[in-house]
Amino acid sequence: MVATRRDLHAHPELGFQEHRTAALVAARLRELGLEVHERIAQTGVLGIVKGGRPGKTIMLRADMDALPIREQNEAAYRSTNDAMHACGHDGHVAILLGAAQILSERRAEICGTVVLCFQPAEEGLGGARAMVEAGILGEYGIERAYGLHLSSQHPTGKVGFRAGQIYASSDSIEIAIHGKGGHGAAPHLSIDPIYVASSFVVAVQQVVSRVVNPVEPAVVTIGSFQAGTTYNVIPTSAKLLGTVRAFDAGVRAEMSGRIERVLAGICAASGATYDFNYIWRYPVTSNDAEQTEYARALGERTLGAEHIEEFPKIMGAEDFSFFAEKVPACFYQVGCRGDERSSFPHHHERFDIDERALEYGVRMMVALGLDAGANAP
Ligand code: NI
Repeated sequence: MVATRRDLHAHPELGFQEHRTAALVAARLRELGLEVHERIAQTGVLGIVKGGRPGKTIMLRADMDALPIREQNEAAYRSTNDAMHACGHDGHVAILLGAAQILSERRAEICGTVVLCFQPAEEGLGGARAMVEAGILGEYGIERAYGLHLSSQHPTGKVGFRAGQIYASSDSIEIAIHGKGGHGAAPHLSIDPIYVASSFVVAVQQVVSRVVNPVEPAVVTIGSFQAGTTYNVIPTSAKLLGTVRAFDAGVRAEMSGRIERVLAGICAASGATYDFNYIWRYPVTSNDAEQTEYARALGERTLGAEHIEEFPKIMGAEDFSFFAEKVPACFYQVGCRGDERSSFPHHHERFDIDERALEYGVRMMVALGLDAGANAP
C-alpha cells in the first residue's frame, strides 16, 4: 500500500483526467481475478468481489483525483507534475486496492457482493454525481455505501464516526456588477462598480448574521474580486466569485434567493445592474444513523474501542453525499497526523500523510467488506 500510494503521489491527476490512475487500478483488480468495469463517468473504475454466500450488495468507495497545486515537499515520492495529491486521495486509492487484495483472497467468506468503487473528480467537479447519473447504483444493485477520508486534523490511530450531518453543502456564486465607466475624478458621471461590489461584499454577511437562524451554521465567502486596471479610471464592471456553505438542506435551499436579494437591493440603490449565477454543487453529507452505529461497533471490534472516536462535523464538503442521498451510507474519518510533516491542513502545498494510517483504513474497509453484506442493518 505504501508503494502504491507513493507511486500515485508522484503521478497525480486532476478530476476526470485520472487516466494513469484508473489504468493502474483496473490492472491491479484484474490481477486479483475480479470483474472490472472501466470508463464509468469518464475515468471511474468498478471492481466486483462476488462473495461465496448470499447477502447484500455493498459499495466501498475511494476518490482518485488530485488538486492543481505545486507540491512544496521534498520527499522522494513528491509530485512529478503541476498537480498534487494534497488531500490524501492517493492514500484512499491505496487503501481500497489493499482491501481489494484481502477481500478477493477471502471472497468465500463474504456474504453478498462488494463493489469497489474508484471514483473520479471529487474536488469540485462532482465525480460521484456523474457515477450516480451513469446508473451504477441500480445497475449493480448497490444497497449500502461506505467511504473514508484520511484526516490530518486527527492523529494516526484514531478512526472517527458521526451520525447525521458531517460535511456542509458547498455551492458557488458568480456575480458580475455592471456600472458605468468614467474618469476617476468624476464619480458623479459614472456608476462605480467597485463601490457597489464592495458594498455587496460587506452587506452579504447579513445573510449569515441576520437572516439565517443562528442555531444553523452557514458561511458566505467571497474569494475573488476583480475590477479595474489603473489608478484613475472607474471601470465598467466588477466580477466576484464566492462559496456558500450550510448544514441544513432547508437553509441551503434559501441561500440563493437571500444572497440575490441583497445584491439586487444594493445595485438598485446605485443604478447598477448585475448577473447572478448560483451553481448548486455538493449537498450536505449526512450519515445514516443505523449504518453509523453499525460501522462504529464494527470498528470497535476490529480496531479496539480506544481507536474509535466521535469526530466533529466540518464545514468542508464531500461528493460522497450524492451516494448517501440514494442509499443508507456511512462516511468515516481516518486520522493521518504523525509528526510535523503530516500536520499540514488538507489542500496545503506541503500536505503529506503519516503512512501508518493506511493500516487503519484498510482494516476498517476489509471489516466492512467481510461483514456488512451479512450484518449491516
Ligand atoms: Ni478530499
